[in-house]
Amino acid sequence: MKALEIKNLKKTFKSNFLLKQYHVLKDITLSVEKGEVYGFLGPNGAGKTTTIKCILGLIFPDAGEITLMGQPANTSESKKKLGFLPEQPYFYDYLTPVELLTFTGMLFGIPRQQLAKKTHELIRLVGLEGKENIKLRKFSKGMVQRIGLAQTLVHDPELLILDEPFSGLDPIGRKELRDIIFSLKEAGKTIFFSSHILQDMELMVDRVGIILAGQTRKEGKLSDLISLSVHDYEIAFTGLAEQVLTDNHLTFTPRDKDYIVRADTQQESNRIIGIINRGGGHILSVTPSKMTLEDIFLREIKE
Ligand SMILES: Nc1ncnc2c1ncn2[C@@H]1O[C@H](COP(=O)(O)OP(=O)(O)O)[C@@H](O)[C@H]1O
Ligand SMILES: [Mg+2]
Repeated sequence: MKALEIKNLKKTFKSNFLLKQYHVLKDITLSVEKGEVYGFLGPNGAGKTTTIKCILGLIFPDAGEITLMGQPANTSESKKKLGFLPEQPYFYDYLTPVELLTFTGMLFGIPRQQLAKKTHELIRLVGLEGKENIKLRKFSKGMVQRIGLAQTLVHDPELLILDEPFSGLDPIGRKELRDIIFSLKEAGKTIFFSSHILQDMELMVDRVGIILAGQTRKEGKLSDLISLSVHDYEIAFTGLAEQVLTDNHLTFTPRDKDYIVRADTQQESNRIIGIINRGGGHILSVTPSKMTLEDIFLREIKE
């Protein structure tokens, strides 16, 4: 089942000046399976936040369709299934984590007794044990992010939407947020998060959607996007006369006592390995160098 489906979403903003129109979303199409971690990737200004605002019903698209768990997104029933963490969460900072979560739970009509249990579960989940009675104004960016995440979980939503949750976090904060996202996935939640921090996505998403200038450019399983994109194979070997290489028109690079030859395809790599073996050389290693998300991203931007 699809947790979220967006089809041909379009949104134009009009400026007051000369009523010029800005086509911010030109054609966003994507789908998120239930239970997956989905990375919504795009450079700044690509339209990620605008897309998220459309999903949440904060702004209205000009065209297109959005469904949550197979139902139209714009119903109150659908909205109950959503949890949202904005890019810069802001809370009344004289509250403590316990007070914030209790207050949020009351807004959702969760009974008091149940709420106390829930509050402590969530504080444990986001790793804020021992900090439950400290005022939020004393919290670091990472801690605010975590209490924000806990707050989005109070009503037990099925789909979590996190807008740039990694921005402004240090490496430890990123690792901790990744761990929390993994435990939420294990608990059966679907997580949709936007980012331009590719390294963080590479370690954790099931699928990505790449948008550029308001358009979906690529969508797919990360493993497919990456394994389809082996750049080349690097063959390291030793013990072969250079003459054999030149006779076979192979371009090589000396490296210490070894040599390196690059092959574009697996067949070419096998052919070269054959030449080296027949010439009495020893293969030291064959390394496929895969494209990283960063490479894919840069290639998309250039096109
Ligand atoms: N309310 C608005 N009025 C006019 N332009 C807007 C409005 N909101 C966003 N934009 C423009 O839309 C583009 C996409 O913005 P946004 O969705 O915030 O991108 P992202 O989150 O991917 O960085 C930007 O060029 C931004 O300036
Ligand atoms: Mg944004």
